[in-house]
Order: sequence, then structure tokens, then C-alpha cells
Amino acid sequence: MKYLISTALVSTIAFSSTTMCYKNNIKDISTVETKKFDGGECMGKYSIDDMKNNSWNISDIKISQKDDKYNFIYILKKQTKSIATPTVVNQKIDYNKINKTLKENKLKNKEIQSLKDGKRVYINKCQSCHGAKGEQTPYNTSAAINKFSLDKLKDTIRGYTMDSYNNGFAIIMKPYADLISDEDLENIYKYLKSINK
Ligand code: HEC
Repeated sequence: MKYLISTALVSTIAFSSTTMCYKNNIKDISTVETKKFDGGECMGKYSIDDMKNNSWNISDIKISQKDDKYNFIYILKKQTKSIATPTVVNQKIDYNKINKTLKENKLKNKEIQSLKDGKRVYINKCQSCHGAKGEQTPYNTSAAINKFSLDKLKDTIRGYTMDSYNNGFAIIMKPYADLISDEDLENIYKYLKSINK
């Protein structure tokens, strides 16, 4: 959804001028604003319609009646801007774009959070055996896990929890596998990937 909002970039100093035009003895009220008015800036030359086209706004109308005729007095106002002041701009606010940016930021924050979580869990629970970057080969049986795909990481870990994977020292690894959640594994995977570039 788009809204059109007018904003003044810098305060606009507005001056207004006022003028009074009149027309007497009018019979047909419906066409009064097309008739040439006397007085003020109308000067017998301009109708109220002409004045409106020239940025005058009706500020007040006074009507008096005499027999079947009417006398009209129009008070007209015009806003004039000082030359030095900046113009008012029309700004389109694109809420779709704002929403998109917010969503992107949210995703970015989520990514950053999972890297942080991955780092915390890896350092606390895995690093002592697998090395700062997952480059070590604990007990000389484990492969270096720094190049593991997420699928391989999940498969081997689940292999330990289900007692279906063992290169000789599964008994060492199983307790850690049992405690690790899928989400932690994904975060660990992202963390290892980020520090092994
Ligand atoms: C106390 C040491 C130790 C800790 C802590 C440890 N591991 Fe292990 N890890 C091992 C050993 C030993 C093996 C090899 C087990 C075997 O023989 O199958 C292994 C194997 C693995 C494997 C399979 C590697 C392969 O060769 O297929 C993965 C993946 C793994 N660990 C991930 C982790 C993660 C993730 C953590 C932290 C949550 C962790 N480990 C914590 C010792 C450890």
C-alpha cells in the first residue's frame, strides 16, 4: 500500500494575501462564479472561476438580497511563498519496500544468532576433541569434521545416537551425540563453515 505524504523539507514561510471582490444585481445564482467581478484584484476583469484558476481560494462569501436580485461579496485568499524557502516535496512512502528491508534484517539477525549459538555450543562441547576449527582427528579414528556437509554431520551424529555408526571409539562420541539437537548441529555446521573459509 502506498501513501502520499507531503512533507516540508525545511519550514516554509507562507504569506497570504487577501482581496475582496463584489458583484451586484445578480439574478442567476448558479452562474455567479463565471461573471466578472468588481473591486479588489478582480478589477472588473476576472470572474471567481478565473481567480480560482489563479490560485485564489474562497475564504468567505457574503450574500444580500434586494427584491429578486442578489449582491455578492467574495473574500479571497492566496498563499504566496517566499522565493528563498524550499519547496514542499511529495514523498512516496513504499511500505512494501520497508517491509522487505525489515524482513531481510530479521533474516540477517537470525543468521548472526545461529552463528553465535553454533560457536558457543561448538566451543563448549566439541572443540576440546575436534580442535578449534574441527580440523583434528580425535583418537585417530574420527575424520576431521570441518569439511563435513550438514547431511554427513547429521547422519554420523544420528548414527552414534542409534548405535549404528562406529569407527572404534563411538563410546567416546556417543554421549555428545545424544545431547546435541538438530538445531545445534545446523548452527555448528554454519559456524564451522564460517571459520573454515
Ligand atoms: C571427548 C572427545 C569428543 C568430544 C567432546 C566430541 N567428539 Fe565427536 N568424536 C570423537 C571421537 C573419538 C570420534 C570418533 C568416534 C568413532 O570412532 O566413531 C568422534 C566422531 C565424531 C563425528 C564423526 C566423524 C567421522 O569420522 O565420521 C562427528 C561428526 C563428531 N564427532 C562431531 C562432534 C560434535 C558436533 C561434537 C560436539 C557436540 C563432538 N563431536 C564432541 C570425540 C569427541
